[in-house]
Amino acid sequence: MNFTRNILITGGAGFIGSHVVRLFVNKYPEYHIINLDKLTYAGNLTNLKDIESQPNYTFVKADICDFDKMLELFKQYRIDGVIHLAAESHVDRSIKDPFTFAQTNVMGTLTLLQAAKIYWESLSEGYGGKRFYHISTDEVYGALELTHPEGIDSDISAHEVYGNEFFKETTKYNPHSPYSASKAGSDHFVRAFHDTYGMPTVVTNCSNNYGPYQFPEKLIPLFINNIRHRKPLPVYGKGENVRDWLYVVDHARAIDIIFHHGKISSTYNIGGFNEWKNIDIVKVIIKTVDKLLGYPEGYSLDLITYVTDRKGHDLRYAIDSTKLKRELGWEPSLQFEEGIEETVRWYLDNQEWMDNITSREYEKYYEEMYNR
Ligand code: NAD
Ligand code: TYD
Repeated sequence: MNFTRNILITGGAGFIGSHVVRLFVNKYPEYHIINLDKLTYAGNLTNLKDIESQPNYTFVKADICDFDKMLELFKQYRIDGVIHLAAESHVDRSIKDPFTFAQTNVMGTLTLLQAAKIYWESLSEGYGGKRFYHISTDEVYGALELTHPEGIDSDISAHEVYGNEFFKETTKYNPHSPYSASKAGSDHFVRAFHDTYGMPTVVTNCSNNYGPYQFPEKLIPLFINNIRHRKPLPVYGKGENVRDWLYVVDHARAIDIIFHHGKISSTYNIGGFNEWKNIDIVKVIIKTVDKLLGYPEGYSLDLITYVTDRKGHDLRYAIDSTKLKRELGWEPSLQFEEGIEETVRWYLDNQEWMDNITSREYEKYYEEMYNR
């Protein structure tokens, strides 16, 4: 088949990557989408069961740190666009094992950049029509103050603002965790490849995502699953840390727009102006799960268990995404109340997906599907 573009999406078997792969495969039948993933504990090909037989989709199991393999793939598939999501992504794991984060996030990104550079510079048109899009996080900016600890509105179902400051594209990098430090390092390399070699790059920094297919080590799926199994809900510290939550499908929509229309060498912040204190999020999750499982209101509140705080726990993240709205017209499509209910419903309706992860059954799927 003759495709108009050949796009390499890294980390496509993970949470956000699977939504991006699905969107691109379905929306652009004229593009060949090559999903490259190492299938670490976080990679799960059952996330993509619905699109895996599409003629414009190819899965490759590989490590972004393997330079020879990366160069071979660029040549084999004549890659002209990269959307790079592969990473180690969990802060708590980075605190225990920072080396893996430096290796995958920094060295892996550099390896991919170098393979792209060598391949693209070997072509007669050079960097013409090419794009290297790197997906990063708001955590590289560090932490903001909590200047309005109670929020402007005390009703937990309403949108709150917990401070005067927001992360802007111009905010100085100040990462605190090994995870955010490794993402910051990778962002710097991407920008250096633009400034030094003229590679057409774009970087986005997004806030916390939520939605279907998130690995249940992260707050929202972990707590939904624990409520279902009547297990404690470990809230770090006092639960007063603030995160800015965005529905994952809205992030994927932003990635689509920025990949096609974002200005080369630009940075865009992506967020929903949707700040929540952890303890309030936990109460919303409990309320929604209890309602959907037919429990009396407040039934699962006693599962809340305050535990020792995360080391170096950033107090507040809040993204200012007005540049993205102004320049490219992107806005979140879903209100948080709808998004969280949809998310809780999805995890409750897809218990097999969750049980396959907790029993590690999902790891056999690749062998059965691709190594037959
Ligand atoms: P995830 O952990 O769910 O998925 C990561 C994927 O990368 C997995 O499929 C894993 O197998 C793959 N991977 C890991 N190491 C690899 C390697 N060496 N080679 C090839 N593949 C490898 O992560 P996610 O939450 O979907 O995050 C995706 C990207 O978005 C990351 O770069 C992350 O930093 C960024 N991000 C995440 C959030 C969030 O809230 N989850 C917010 C902003 C930015
Ligand atoms: P997480 O989902 O790990 O995302 P991130 O660390 O990238 O923001 O955590 C979201 C917030 O929830 C963060 O402030 C840490 C907190 N948290 C808990 O209180 N308990 C938990 O068990 C987890 C996983 C997170």
